[in-house]
Amino acid sequence: MCGIVAYAGTKNALSILLDGLQRLEYRGYDSAGIFISNPKKDAVLKVKGKVNELRLLCDKETKEELFPIGLGHTRWATHGKPNESNAHPHVSNNKELILVHNGIIENYETLKKDLIQRGYTFESDTDSEVLINLFEEIQKTQQVSLEAAVQIGLNKVIGAYGIVVFDKKKPHELIVARLGSPLAIGIGKNDFFVGSDATPFLEHTKEVVYLNDFEMARLSFGEDIQVSNFKENTQIKAIINQLTFDLEHIQKDGFDHFMLKEIFEQPKAIENSLRGRIDLLKEEVQLDSVQKHESIFKNTKRIIILGCGTSWHAGLVGEYLLEKFTRIPTEVEYASEFRYRDPIIHKDDLVIPISQSGETADTMAALKLAKDRGAFIFGICNVVGSSISRETDSGMYTHAGPEIGVASTKAFTTQITVLILLSLKIAALRNTIQASESKRLLDELIQIPDLISSFLKQISEIKEIAKIYHKASNMLYLGRGFNFPVALEGALKLKEISYIHAEGYPAAEMKHGPIALIDKEMPVIVIATKKGHYDKIVSNVQEIRSRGAKIISIVSSGDESIKKMSDHCIEIPESDEIFSPLFATIPLQLLSYYIAILRNCNVDQPRNLAKSVTVE
Ligand code: AGP
Ligand code: GLU
Repeated sequence: MCGIVAYAGTKNALSILLDGLQRLEYRGYDSAGIFISNPKKDAVLKVKGKVNELRLLCDKETKEELFPIGLGHTRWATHGKPNESNAHPHVSNNKELILVHNGIIENYETLKKDLIQRGYTFESDTDSEVLINLFEEIQKTQQVSLEAAVQIGLNKVIGAYGIVVFDKKKPHELIVARLGSPLAIGIGKNDFFVGSDATPFLEHTKEVVYLNDFEMARLSFGEDIQVSNFKENTQIKAIINQLTFDLEHIQKDGFDHFMLKEIFEQPKAIENSLRGRIDLLKEEVQLDSVQKHESIFKNTKRIIILGCGTSWHAGLVGEYLLEKFTRIPTEVEYASEFRYRDPIIHKDDLVIPISQSGETADTMAALKLAKDRGAFIFGICNVVGSSISRETDSGMYTHAGPEIGVASTKAFTTQITVLILLSLKIAALRNTIQASESKRLLDELIQIPDLISSFLKQISEIKEIAKIYHKASNMLYLGRGFNFPVALEGALKLKEISYIHAEGYPAAEMKHGPIALIDKEMPVIVIATKKGHYDKIVSNVQEIRSRGAKIISIVSSGDESIKKMSDHCIEIPESDEIFSPLFATIPLQLLSYYIAILRNCNVDQPRNLAKSVTVE
């Protein structure tokens, strides 16, 4: 997966590309490159490393010239090491065609062999370089324009791609196409912008066309956008959407890192997830996206939740919520496993893919499989207009706002918020909850953003704990019931940003094996809130304490028993057990954050990771 930016117009492409790539670094950041062109000069500039290094190279190489057209790429390698020659853009053998590519060309070896037999040579190990030479070969042998060559070429390609291509013979034109990897086209007054999402051009235009799978577009300076379907070779009317978020939404707002900003945004984000979804007069959940399909939700026999990483953890909380309130049997599956194991799917199954980005390739493929087999798909996504959200039959946005930090924070708590609303709504439709119980829970739910805001004002204790344990090599996270997925999420946060090995376990499972790991060196984080299995978890804490572990507990305010047994204790507001993940997650996010800072780790862009995993 990677980030793509392109520009064609009258402004200086160079600064638009560099700023845009920087905003897309969440998608990949192992190398970066650009191509820029004006009537007198063109250049391909690439570096191994981040966009900042590319910026330095560009300053040196380009002086103050104006380049009205160009394309850029920030890479997350799939084929070939992260080095300069594998970095994009890639140039065809005749040096006329330039390409940036996000995705994977699965049949690249066959195509490459054929091109080598025809005399082509390759400078990189990437699958992407095969694509640009394939277009050259088609142009040459069939005497067609680049647009036609792309249309013919993509029909020979198996894989996933978002591409931007440039032909030096048509210096005012860009050709873009997508299958499986996102592409947004910004329509300016007198210019075109392209991005893997809309953030690179937010300050330039609010008009955006999202390409769908099998669509390509010709962006020719001075003409209207031309969209077509490259499989069917038919013209399509471009649908222009209006963007509703601003640049300030995606900047750091005075915080040192996006992750910290996003942790602190959670009260607002949860409030936004709730907005307009609770009828305060009738004191019930109102969700048009469910109401419209009432009979499906009333009659479904089984729910399958699909997701990856943090979204899968939110799915586990969803399973507990949905079964508790709706009594519909619910399963949670890793999307990557589900898609390849020939799962049994019934027409009356309700499938819920959960994805922050709405672009995760495994989740997308799993939902398509379920859809092809007739299930109803109800998506939970954050990014509006994302590929997954467009593929579903209905769904809810989490409205968390852009999440830039690679480690998911506000996406998780808003996914849980949406799952709470969804469970209560389905339960009301199926009469599996009393109106008074639903009202009591909704009353409590609407207080949560304020309670989290107050909690976020007193976090000095967490910084102190981070100082004591930042050199640990392992940590265990334990929770039960609704807080078991929180333990998994806490461990994932620590692993991904601090590189400390961590595991989450249901607290009672400890004695079936992991307890052997416990010694004086092992910090154990126990989530032990008042409601829900409290007495059981007290026993579990005793078991690990007697084996010498250092205990850091997350307890409901006013707790006495567990506090006494702990080396450190963080108090969160007391709540109904179904809401405890919304509170308990936050100190775990902060603990990982401060530990990572003390270990000098790159919090927003941890090694080997990318924000959205748009490849298998
Ligand atoms: C979370 O911190 C991760 N970086 C990762 O596990 C993420 O949740 C996963 O890749 C799923 O992404 P999605 O929600 O955008 O589909
Ligand atoms: N497959 C291409 C490569 O390895 C593109 C990867 C990406 O999407 O970043 O260069």
